[in-house]
Amino acid sequence: MLEHVPTHLKHAYNLYDRTEKLGIENTCNHAHKVLTVDVDGNCMLCGCDAWLPISVANILELDSIDAVWQTSTAKLLQQDIDAKKYTWCSVDSCGIKKMNQIKDRYFLSINVDEGCNLACPSCRIQKINYTSGSQYESRLRIANHLVDLINKFDKPCEIMMSGNGDPFASLIYRPLLLNMEPKDNIQIRMLTNALMLKKVMPKTKIKESIRHLDISIDAGDKETYERLRLGGKWEVLLDNLDYVKQEFDCEVTLKFVLQRDNIDSVENFVELVERYGFRGNIMPLEDWGTMKNFSDHSVMNPAHPMNAKANKLLDKFRDNGRLFFHSI
Ligand SMILES: C[S@@+](CC[C@H](N)C(=O)[O-])C[C@H]1O[C@@H](n2cnc3c(N)ncnc32)[C@H](O)[C@@H]1O
Repeated sequence: MLEHVPTHLKHAYNLYDRTEKLGIENTCNHAHKVLTVDVDGNCMLCGCDAWLPISVANILELDSIDAVWQTSTAKLLQQDIDAKKYTWCSVDSCGIKKMNQIKDRYFLSINVDEGCNLACPSCRIQKINYTSGSQYESRLRIANHLVDLINKFDKPCEIMMSGNGDPFASLIYRPLLLNMEPKDNIQIRMLTNALMLKKVMPKTKIKESIRHLDISIDAGDKETYERLRLGGKWEVLLDNLDYVKQEFDCEVTLKFVLQRDNIDSVENFVELVERYGFRGNIMPLEDWGTMKNFSDHSVMNPAHPMNAKANKLLDKFRDNGRLFFHSI
């Protein structure tokens, strides 16, 4: 299978055991229902490409979305997973040991560009934004091709944009926003910093198909926000949150990645969530290799000097019905 592992996923491939597992009784249908597309058009069959880092095709070679689950590599993965061997799966991370992993709808996760209007230190060392050149052109081709495939896909499908770049800021995502014409079978989940939402959304035809709007803010006050979300302006965020409140009839979640530099902003974050009547999601910081001294920032690590403070703070909000916590 190594020949099907994209170069940027080789590290992830080697992080986990890629041999047959024993004793897992739970079922997973993701290899029949899920497609994750990356910046090179690689197609992975798991919601997280690092968990099953095997590309079954390049999206540019396919003339329908359905075709991705029919390739010979897809069939191999499906047979292995249907037999509950989970040979190439990251079973300690994906949740299969705890429960069945079943999708009723098809699920398409689009991660075709990491371009963003922000340069958050937790995520990247410098701003990334392709606006011309060969990289830009090749990614744009992938985005345009995806639009064609999505517009003719007629099965029930949830589309998620995006786990890497910002779908409203990146010019590579723009054709997906402007040219997608979702029918009733399509539901969309957007993950965005929301700073360009008000500007771009009125030009699209996707608004009514958005069922979930996840807005990452990682702060509850201006000073913390502008320090952690480098390039972002608090007033612009609030203006966009007002727009969302007025214009959207969908589930809105404000997201907060907990770290040393925003721990004192949690209470304000919760107030903001309550003021808008949205949901709030607090998650731990992960090591994405961009912070030189990650362990200094990772307050959810039991060895961190601020870990007790972090836990006490979170315990205060555990019963708050608007909030939910991931791995915390
Ligand atoms: C990389 S961004 C991409 C989508 C979009 N640009 C946005 O800001 O939501 C996705 C999410 O990752 C979070 N994030 C950034 N650095 C992280 C880290 N080191 N560990 C975990 N999450 C992180 C962001 O706060 C955001 O919620």
